[in-house]
Amino acid sequence: MIIQNTLVDIAYLIGAVSFVWGLRLLGSPDTARKGNTYAAFGMGLGIIAVLLDARIIGDGNYLWIVGGMAVGSIIGWLAAKKIQMTAMPQMVSIFNGLGGACAAILSIVEIMTQDLDKGGLVISLFALLIGAIAFTGSMLAYLKLDGKIWDSQVTWPKHNIINQVLLLLTVAFFIYLVIAGHTTGLLIGFLVLSLFYGWSFVAPIGGADMPVVISLLNSFTGISAAAAGLIYGSNFMLVGGILVGASGTILTVLMCQAMNRSLFNVLIGGFSAAGGAAAADGDQVAKSTNAIDSAILLNYSSSVMFVPGYGLAVAQAQKALKELDDLLESNGVDVKYAIHPVAGRMPGHMNVLLAEADVPYPKLLDLDDANAALPSTDVVVIVGANDVVNPAANDDPSSSIYGMPVLNVWEAKHVIVMKRSMSPGYAGIQNQLFFHEKTKMFFGDAKDSIQKLTSEVKNL
Ligand code: TAP
Repeated sequence: MIIQNTLVDIAYLIGAVSFVWGLRLLGSPDTARKGNTYAAFGMGLGIIAVLLDARIIGDGNYLWIVGGMAVGSIIGWLAAKKIQMTAMPQMVSIFNGLGGACAAILSIVEIMTQDLDKGGLVISLFALLIGAIAFTGSMLAYLKLDGKIWDSQVTWPKHNIINQVLLLLTVAFFIYLVIAGHTTGLLIGFLVLSLFYGWSFVAPIGGADMPVVISLLNSFTGISAAAAGLIYGSNFMLVGGILVGASGTILTVLMCQAMNRSLFNVLIGGFSAAGGAAAADGDQVAKSTNAIDSAILLNYSSSVMFVPGYGLAVAQAQKALKELDDLLESNGVDVKYAIHPVAGRMPGHMNVLLAEADVPYPKLLDLDDANAALPSTDVVVIVGANDVVNPAANDDPSSSIYGMPVLNVWEAKHVIVMKRSMSPGYAGIQNQLFFHEKTKMFFGDAKDSIQKLTSEVKNL
């Protein structure tokens, strides 16, 4: 038994190191795929070790465990296979919510079946609370991201005050359960209140703030899993939970910085589409362009910067864009890509798409480097981006995105905007860039437009 325990502990250690190493490799698109594989290997090893860990499993019923794992694996595999790149945030939300639900259920079982001391009860109730919040919050985030529910359907007047009251009630209930002990009825009441608070907490947050919320909920799930690790005395679960909690928190902070917002400001829902929106002046006219004129402009310039956005993902235009890039480079044009940290619908969305098309990583400029290079760039081609190039963020204090750092594309000599219509982007606000003197609109599906442009460049 001692030898078995030692081998199991070694497997936990290798699994935990694989997590950390995998996370490190996720830091660069070049190595991210490998990082994912390492982390998956660590998780696989950890699961096998838990199954062999007599201290945790005891005389557990393997039929139930293996049956549950098989059903979960099949559903997860099918979902991951079927999901479109554009719906990735929705899938992350659902998986994240299920992680929270898992931690909450483990805590309930533990509280109901074990004779816990005060410390054990505090940790279990904490895991229950955070897991339940992560569950309903993530499910609402999924419904909102998927367009199944709109902010106005779930937001009440004075919602932020209601949320503060709910939070106070939840904390008071938590303290009461710890001091006075629990009955099944009280525990169910606490679970219902926690679930309701999770839903209500996410309800007023909308628009461009959703990625921050998802990342925050992800860190909640990590924290609840870490607490569940404490309950079960599983160091492996503790390490995994802490890594998820810490990386989710860091990502949340980085995204808030990228939008120049405080987390508090995000949580009280000050950036939703309901905020101020600069309406287009009726007299303003946007100039349009076509494939032939754009091809001439691009081919005879010395530097071009592509600005990809959510529309690139919708159109799946990344490979067509790379083909145009190669063609322009072979004609002596210097081509770069400007990557805004929240372009698309998930962190690193554009990096993933461009890596899929084999765009070399050194060609990708981050926000600061791109803004430094823009004044000396001949032509900027915006491919399905909108909010991340909206000048209102810099110069319109009444705009709901005022203060968010954006790509200053209007500083380049020429700007071509590829999109299908004049519709606003995710934040739901108009974009004065489309009426700027340097801007020409190239209307159409991004992939289609790029392919037309490429064939015109070939004809020159
Ligand atoms: P958006 O502001 O959402 O604009 C995307 C534009 O793409 C739209 O205006 C749309 O215009 C165009 N488009 C859609 N399908 C297209 C197609 N097939 N061909 C050509 N154009 C197409 O995108 P963005 O600039 O990337 O900004 C991202 C926004 O999403 C930000 O507000 C951000 O905060 C938010 N957000 C980000 C994340 C993360 S973490 N990246 C997650 C959730 C939300 P048409 O309809 O006229 O074509």
